[in-house]
Amino acid sequence: MKTVLVFGGAGYVGSHGCKAFAQRGWNVVTFDDLSRGWRDAVRWGELIEATLLDRAAVAEAIRTTRPDLIVHFAAFAYVGESVSDPAIYYYNNTVGSLNLIEEVRAAGNIPIIFSSTCATYGVPDTLPITEDHPQRPINPYGWSKLFVEKMLADFHVAHGLDSVSLRYFNAAGADPDGEIGERHEPETHAIPLAIEAAVSPNASFTVFGSDFDTPDGTAVRDYIHVSDLASAHVAAGEFLAGNPGAHVFNLGTGTGTSVLELIGAVESVAGRKANVHFGPRRPGDPAELVASADKARDILAWQTQHSSIENIVASALAWRLRERV
Ligand SMILES: NC(=O)c1ccc[n+]([C@@H]2O[C@H](COP(=O)([O-])OP(=O)(O)OC[C@H]3O[C@@H](n4cnc5c(N)ncnc54)[C@H](O)[C@@H]3O)[C@@H](O)[C@H]2O)c1
Repeated sequence: MKTVLVFGGAGYVGSHGCKAFAQRGWNVVTFDDLSRGWRDAVRWGELIEATLLDRAAVAEAIRTTRPDLIVHFAAFAYVGESVSDPAIYYYNNTVGSLNLIEEVRAAGNIPIIFSSTCATYGVPDTLPITEDHPQRPINPYGWSKLFVEKMLADFHVAHGLDSVSLRYFNAAGADPDGEIGERHEPETHAIPLAIEAAVSPNASFTVFGSDFDTPDGTAVRDYIHVSDLASAHVAAGEFLAGNPGAHVFNLGTGTGTSVLELIGAVESVAGRKANVHFGPRRPGDPAELVASADKARDILAWQTQHSSIENIVASALAWRLRERV
């Protein structure tokens, strides 16, 4: 049985990743400091509770688990927080990743899959965004991730380390079996916030900007179901076994959904009106971010199965209602 060591496996995307690897027959071990994750989300394999910033702990985890593959979800991921406190993003996301990459190399170049982001592109010149689009992040979070992509590319050239960087668009939805779901504190993602505004009388949802150059004036994003993201990591791990290199793939659907369309889907699935307000645009918020999903589909032989907006919203709503029972 092959072993995957999952950094950040107690978080939202990471816990779904652990489930996908376990279902595919992998032995799963999670390494997470629980700074933003949840002990009870570690349901597939053991938890090593430690931080990436402790390089000796990273080395020890690799030495004891002897993984065939590393998957690296561990990071801070709030854009606004990265603007107000960039240092913790460069330490945690960039220095922490360098610790991991150096230990992975010292252990004999274990292949690594890295969670990157569409935030590395910044404001796009063309749509849909292909992997060769220029990367010009507009916040420290995006830079903290782009530096890691660059390190992985450089370590391939210098040392032959193989990697896949997966640039996620908007992760959304919850495990179809209801075992795990989205839990960020504070929650900043649109779908859980819109659901809250529909199911909770005290909550409201603010639409930031209604004057974008988009069909209904609200911002358009590419939402991908978290279980589809998870299965892409398994496909990337299998791909890496036969394809050396430092690869990059977008993970999106190729379909954009506006904020108003999203609210419509939430109201229709929940059967209730959401309490919605309109506010000004947020600085640096692009009008439209939609992935070209062709490369992952063609090369990883991976397809989305759960990513219709109705399915995403229905699974997120089921998780929300179950969570509070
Ligand atoms: N959620 C999205 O829409 C999205 C989009 C693009 C990219 N990403 C990336 O995907 C990854 C997962 O995102 P998420 O939404 O699941 O976030 P999350 O906060 O739910 O999960 C991150 C996990 O990493 C752990 N962690 C953070 N720093 C650590 C450290 N120094 N040592 C050990 N563990 C540490 C946290 O405790 C948490 O369990 C992140 O790298 C994020 O940048 C997420």
